[in-house]
Amino acid sequence: MRTVIAGGHGQVGRRLARTLVERGDDVVAFVRSASQITDLTEIGAHVALVDLEEDDAVAVSFELDGADAVVFAAGAGPGSGAERKDTVDRAGAALLADAAERAGVERYVLLSSRGTEAARSDERPDEIDDTFWAYLRAKAAAEDDLRARDALRWTVVRPGRLTDEPGVGLVALAPVEDDGGRPRGKRRKAGAGREEVTRDDVALVIAAVLHEPRTAGLVIDLVGGDRPVDEALDGILS
Ligand SMILES: NC(=O)c1ccc[n+]([C@@H]2O[C@H](COP(=O)([O-])OP(=O)(O)OC[C@H]3O[C@@H](n4cnc5c(N)ncnc54)[C@H](OP(=O)(O)O)[C@@H]3O)[C@@H](O)[C@H]2O)c1
Repeated sequence: MRTVIAGGHGQVGRRLARTLVERGDDVVAFVRSASQITDLTEIGAHVALVDLEEDDAVAVSFELDGADAVVFAAGAGPGSGAERKDTVDRAGAALLADAAERAGVERYVLLSSRGTEAARSDERPDEIDDTFWAYLRAKAAAEDDLRARDALRWTVVRPGRLTDEPGVGLVALAPVEDDGGRPRGKRRKAGAGREEVTRDDVALVIAAVLHEPRTAGLVIDLVGGDRPVDEALDGILS
């Protein structure tokens, strides 16, 4: 499988690139800076220079030639304001989807975030500040854009807070209702109240999702848990 990762040098993107290469997949990482190329070629990924705020869908579609799947793992990042939440987290994800459609790449995995269901309300809850609200609104809009596209076999992955602790390969997954509602069913947890997940484990889940066609059309809630990734995925598919 040949997978293109937008945000290929991001903290999740790099882990995902390594995970996929180790699985024997072909990986193309999109980066914005030539200084990031070596980090990725050293782990066996190919690299393309793509800026989702500067390039158009036609240019990006050329870089998707021969791909089987795309992953949106980009993000404006913690230091950015509301404007870039919109230009990267919403518009960048939609541009990648436009490019995927043009290139005939049907499979699209969106790395979104927990909390987007709250962002579908017009009122910002008091405990969420303006920038985080803009971020959640951008992620929710990216999800909605993707879900409206019939030409793509999409999966949305919504992790909790990301950590840099070493991954343990144990997660809790839950399918989310189509209307953007809260996770369905009972989520199994390793520890009470655990709402975070390691970036290593997010990479494992996305790699597994890419290799599991039955996840198309699903929105998946993800936190650390007590089930191996493949078992957790089977649990929400059976
Ligand atoms: N932090 C959390 O707790 C949390 C929780 C849930 C979901 N998420 C989401 O998970 C995703 C990945 O997180 P992360 O920690 O890996 O983020 P990260 O390390 O900040 O990586 C973001 C990547 O996006 C790239 N990017 C920024 N602007 C771009 C543009 N215009 N065109 C193309 N690429 C661009 C960055 O490239 P440069 O190096 O060039 O800037 C970087 O490689 C993000 O979408 C984030 O919102 C985060």
